[in-house]
Parts: sequence; C-alpha cells; structure tokens
Amino acid sequence: MKVTIKSAEEIEKMRRAGEILAAVHQNLAREIKPGMSTLDIDRLGEEMIRGYGCIPSFKNYCGYPASICVSVNEEVVHGIPTDERIIKEGDIVSLDAGVIYEGYHSDAARTWGVGEISAEAQRLIDVTRESFFKGISFAKEGNHLHEISAAIQDYVEGNGFSVVRDLVCHGIGTHLHEDPQIQNLRTKGRGIRLMAGMTLAIEPMGNAGTWEVAYEDDDWTVVTDDGSLSAHYENTILVTKDGCEILTLR
Ligand code: MF3
Ligand code: CO
Repeated sequence: MKVTIKSAEEIEKMRRAGEILAAVHQNLAREIKPGMSTLDIDRLGEEMIRGYGCIPSFKNYCGYPASICVSVNEEVVHGIPTDERIIKEGDIVSLDAGVIYEGYHSDAARTWGVGEISAEAQRLIDVTRESFFKGISFAKEGNHLHEISAAIQDYVEGNGFSVVRDLVCHGIGTHLHEDPQIQNLRTKGRGIRLMAGMTLAIEPMGNAGTWEVAYEDDDWTVVTDDGSLSAHYENTILVTKDGCEILTLR
C-alpha cells in the first residue's frame, strides 16, 4: 500500500473524527476513579463514541474484544478491559481509542495518573507526552520521516527513560493502519519525504526501565519485560506545508 495524500474533503472528515476523539478522551479523563473496573472505562468510552454517531474502530479489530485499550502501570498497550481489574489510587492508566466518522479514522492515546502518583510516574507520563511534541516539531512538508522518529527517541532517552522498539506509529485514513510505518527510534536512512496531506498517528511509548516488552497470555496485552511502568501518548496529525495540525487535540 502506498502512502496516501488526503484531499480537502477527506481532511474535513478526519478533522471531525479527530475532534470527536479529543472530546471522548476529555470526557473519559473526568470519569476515571479508584474502584472502577477497566471494563467500566471501556463501556463508558464505547457509549460516548456511539453517542457521537461514530464507530469504535478497535472493537473486533483483528479480534480485539473492546473499544478502548486500557493498560495499567506495567502494561504498555492493548490491555483488554475486564470487570476484575480494578483501578486504584496511585495507578497510571493508558487509554487508547479510535473512532470512525463517515469512513475516516482517528486514533489517540493518553496516560492519566489516578489520585496521587509517584514523582517518577508523573515524570514518565510528562516525558512521554513531551516526546510526541518533540517528534512532531519535524512533521512538515519537505522534512523526512525519520527526523520525527529520532527526535522521539532522543528526548525519551535523554530524560533517562526508554522507548518501546517493537511497536510502531502508522499512517491513518480510511484504515486504522496505513503506510508508512514509523519507528520511535533512530533508524537507517532518512525515510520518506513528508508531504502536505499525509495523516499520521504518532504514538511514543515510554518505559521507566528496559525498552523490552512481552505479551501476556491473552496474546494482546503488551507489558514491560522488567515490570517497570509504561506510558503512552498518541495523536493523529495532518502534515501541512509549514508544520502540522494535531487533529485529536482541542
Ligand atoms: N493505537 C493502537 C494502534 O495503533 C490501537 C490498536 S489496538 C487494537 O495499534 F485493539 F485495535 F488493535
Ligand atoms: Co495507533
């Protein structure tokens, strides 16, 4: 599949898909409380997404059973919500969601602290989010893809954390995952030349310890190999002539 350039009409739909997802994340952030289950969060999120007339894109994607990936503490991404996993004070909770609006996808993730969290956990959340902004400061027509990747790795590692290497960022549009694949790492070569109209989901995952990850028995939940905390931050962006527009923030 080749990297697609979205037309003005497609971009309008992606803006709307993004705006709705930004609202869903804001609303979910207000709902997270100690004592609720990760399945409660999924139910609320799915209701919100459908309330906006959208489809939750993760539900049944390659067999994934829920609308919101809820990944707690050492869980990196793709945590499966259950009614047994109860959120407690001090946890860090990553929520990843995607919506489809009139055939166009948006994809975004946030990590929230529940009540009082450790200073290290807060710093991990902040550094992971900040690395996204460092990365996308290179998202501009004429720049090259790997500039984004290198900036993310440099920022996370420069702050004493590690960045997950086994999972990638991706193009997005009429499909959740489109070309190009984007590493959160310095890699060989410059990567493709960025052009206005490309839409990308940039999603650094920062770990407090090793970058290495493992899969739980459910074959979905990705966890840190050493059990250290992990944070995730993601937005869908539109590359423009003089920078980028973040579609899933408001
Ligand atoms: N943001 C994640 C990704 O791009 C969401 C996919 S989760 C899945 O891979 F459940 F839908 F697979
Ligand atoms: Co994604």
